[in-house]
Amino acid sequence: MTDSPPIALQGLSVDFLSAGEPPARALRDVSLTIPPRSIVGLVGESGSGKSTVAMAMMGLLAPNARVGAGRIDVGARRIDCTDGAALAGLRGRDFAMVFQDPSASLNPTFTIGAHLHEVLRTRSPGATRAERQERAIEALRTVGIDRPDARMRNHPHELSGGMRQRVVIAMALLARPRLLIADEPTTALDVTVEAQVMAEIVALRDQIGCSILLITHSLGLVARYCDHVSVIYAGEVLEYGPVAEVVRAPAHPYSADIFACDIEIDAPRAPAAADQRFRIIPGNLPSLRDLPAACIYAPRCRKAVPACMAGHPALLPLTDEPERETRCILAR
Ligand SMILES: Nc1ncnc2c1ncn2[C@@H]1O[C@H](COP(=O)(O)OP(=O)(O)OP(=O)(O)O)[C@@H](O)[C@H]1O
Ligand SMILES: [Mg+2]
Repeated sequence: MTDSPPIALQGLSVDFLSAGEPPARALRDVSLTIPPRSIVGLVGESGSGKSTVAMAMMGLLAPNARVGAGRIDVGARRIDCTDGAALAGLRGRDFAMVFQDPSASLNPTFTIGAHLHEVLRTRSPGATRAERQERAIEALRTVGIDRPDARMRNHPHELSGGMRQRVVIAMALLARPRLLIADEPTTALDVTVEAQVMAEIVALRDQIGCSILLITHSLGLVARYCDHVSVIYAGEVLEYGPVAEVVRAPAHPYSADIFACDIEIDAPRAPAAADQRFRIIPGNLPSLRDLPAACIYAPRCRKAVPACMAGHPALLPLTDEPERETRCILAR
């Protein structure tokens, strides 16, 4: 799998429609490259469009969403993001997802065992019931659940939040996706459990060789676990590149600003504070219904010059570092 091409999302645009209002242009020309076996972080403040990227790739957007354009290259296939049936074909096979709330992936009326058997019925249709049972128990053991045979008979509500998230990771282990999309997988958990669940997610990559798109507010998680990072702001990717280089020398002032805000990345979080970290940058996200024909960050940017207001910059590679991309004209 190391030789397979990256999973590439290209040119994704999504509007949300509501009666009597102009469309909210939630994503505009979003592209992401996810190399094989790598963990790519997607960071940005609340409302920047991170979950919309995930849900569009999974084909699970709300009914009022309209996908204007976009495609995903997966192996030799090219999937059109406007084709709901094609995306449904990737879901549960090529792509799996871990949500912030594990209950979103679990049916309260089914046992843990029923969930795991269901994944195996789809992914390993030839397996007997006894084989499925054995592999399901082994998967629970692998993600660190003790007494896995007894847990198979439990319902989701009988497990803690951290254990439920481990069950969702065990489901992904059995589904063997090429890409795991994890949307704030540890935000609802306390810091000790966060470290354990992140360790299981990384172990999953090592065991099945998948790639991971890790959506997070935590730059600490990005620095610790991700190989690449994509910084998204008000529906646009402003910077993409290897984590070490982006953190060392951000190529967009927005990246520099969020890294400067998040100095207490490893401090235990206060219950309501997890979402507040990026709000220290003065100003607000622009309205998605009335976007300027300029750099979207210019009104908040410390470095803005008149040229930043003159036109809308494209996401382009840095001259000296073609692996890195930025929308900032000052970096060129
Ligand atoms: N169904 C919907 N209808 C209208 N607007 C929506 C809908 N879903 C999301 N949005 C809007 O799209 C934008 C992006 O939302 P999204 O949930 O993707 O952000 P996010 O980066 O995941 O935020 P958070 O960090 O809070 O999870 C926001 O302005 C949000 O209000
Ligand atoms: Mg979100």
